[in-house]
This record gives sequence, structure tokens and C-alpha cells, in this order.
Amino acid sequence: MDLDGARTLVAGASGALGSGIASALHARGAKVVVGGRRRAPLDALASRFDTSPVLFDAVDGDSCRRAVGEAVDQLGGLDLIVVAVGVAAFGPAVDADAAVVDELFAVNVLGPMSLVRAAAPALAESDRGRAAVLSAILADLPTNQMAEYSATKAALAAWLDVLRRENRRAFGVLDVRPPHLDTGLETRALAGIPPKLPEPRPAAEVVDAFVAALVDDVKVLGWDPQEKKLVSRGS
Ligand SMILES: NC(=O)c1ccc[n+]([C@@H]2O[C@H](COP(=O)([O-])OP(=O)(O)OC[C@H]3O[C@@H](n4cnc5c(N)ncnc54)[C@H](OP(=O)(O)O)[C@@H]3O)[C@@H](O)[C@H]2O)c1
Repeated sequence: MDLDGARTLVAGASGALGSGIASALHARGAKVVVGGRRRAPLDALASRFDTSPVLFDAVDGDSCRRAVGEAVDQLGGLDLIVVAVGVAAFGPAVDADAAVVDELFAVNVLGPMSLVRAAAPALAESDRGRAAVLSAILADLPTNQMAEYSATKAALAAWLDVLRRENRRAFGVLDVRPPHLDTGLETRALAGIPPKLPEPRPAAEVVDAFVAALVDDVKVLGWDPQEKKLVSRGS
């Protein structure tokens, strides 16, 4: 897709990947509205982009729909929604706390689904509409001590697959599945202690690959363990 002038909402822009992606898209000429849960980190980005932030909590579907509506009104339409919202949890599957599992699925699956669903009509009206969502390598490689976190990402990836097929004439869908990164996500987990993780990759690599995948209309960006990089799986 052509990013120049693209009317864009980045949901989860207070996070490491979200803020990096928002800045990279702005640098490519996109008009970027940032969205998230906490106003302070969003304000700094929004003032650079000359837009107003929109607020939502991913566990509250109504607030997701409202935030997307506000972004569409502000931008006069929507060409691109980026969803970089997510949280982790660790520990053995049989020990998982029910409230933690509910929140994990709400933030990682139901919230992103609400955001993209709310954006769909505006994306369909655009001549370059696209939804780009961060799942994770865990969608391909469910990992011990991360059963529920893996399950959320597999569920999100499955939903994105169907969304792409059902809407192939209306808008595109990019699913990005990075490996462990240096963003510190694991230190903000809802519960549990992370198992020994592989050496983290730089988040900047993902931001660059993400923007290139958008430009090339890639469908899935997955991790290639041999090449040690994100590779396109269909365009
Ligand atoms: N880092 C990795 O190793 C890695 C690997 C693969 C995939 N990913 C995925 O990439 C995405 C971004 O991760 P990141 O590494 O950039 O982590 P991050 O810096 O912790 O960013 C996470 C984002 O999610 C937001 N968020 C969490 N709970 C929320 C809620 N209830 N409502 C609204 N927003 C909420 C955070 O908002 P606040 O600032 O308000 O907390 C933040 O903007 C996630 O989906 C993650 O699963 C990350």
C-alpha cells in the first residue's frame, strides 16, 4: 500500500512496538492518530503528529469501538489500522488463574477483534484499506509455560486468516508474528515468571520489516529460525 497520506490509527501506541511503528509511518508520510489506555505517553506522540489521541481499554469492547469512531471522524476516513496491543502471562497451564486468563484473552484477542471490526466499514470504503495486527511467533510455536499466552496468539492469528479471506475484495490483512524482542514485554506480564527465553531480537528490526510488509501488501510476516529474520508468507 502507498503510505503517503494514509489515514492511520495505531492502537497500542504507548507500547514499544506501537510507538516505533507510529513514528515510522509518520516519517513515511502517513497521517497518524495514536490510541491506547494511558493519555500521557500518547500526548507526546500526538503533538508530534499534529493529531489528538483516542483512548480505550482493550478489555472494554465499547471503548474500543468508540476510539475507532473518534479516529475515523478525526481523519475523515481510515486507510490503515495497526493493532499493537498485548500482554503476556507465564506459568504451567494447570495453575493458571481464571481471572488472569480472562484478562489475557480480553486484551490479546477480544480487544484487537473489536478494534478491527469497528474499523472494517471505513477500511472497506478506502481504496487502500488495510488492517495490520501484531500476533506472535507463539501462533506457530506454542511454548511451555506460556500455554494461555500462546493460545491467545493462535486464536488471533486464526481470526485474522478468516478475516483476510472473507474481506479480500474490501481490505487487506497483515498478521505479524515476531519472536522474543527487546521491548521488556515479559517484565509487564499479568502473572508468572518468564521461563528462559531466547536472546531477544531488536524491536527496530520488526518496525522496519513491518513497514516494508505494509508497502509490499504482505499477508503474514513470520519468523524464519534458519535465516533469523521475519519473512513474508504471501503477498
Ligand atoms: N515484545 C515481544 O517479545 C513480542 C513478541 C511477539 C509479539 N509481540 C506482540 O507485540 C505487541 C506489542 O508488544 P510490545 O513488545 O510493544 O509490548 P509493550 O511495550 O508492553 O506494549 C504493549 C501495548 O499494549 C497496551 N495494552 C496492554 N493492556 C492494554 C489494555 N487493557 N488496554 C489497552 N492497551 C493495553 C499497552 O498499553 P499501556 O502502555 O497502557 O500498558 C502497550 O501500548 C503485543 O501484541 C505483543 O504480544 C511482542
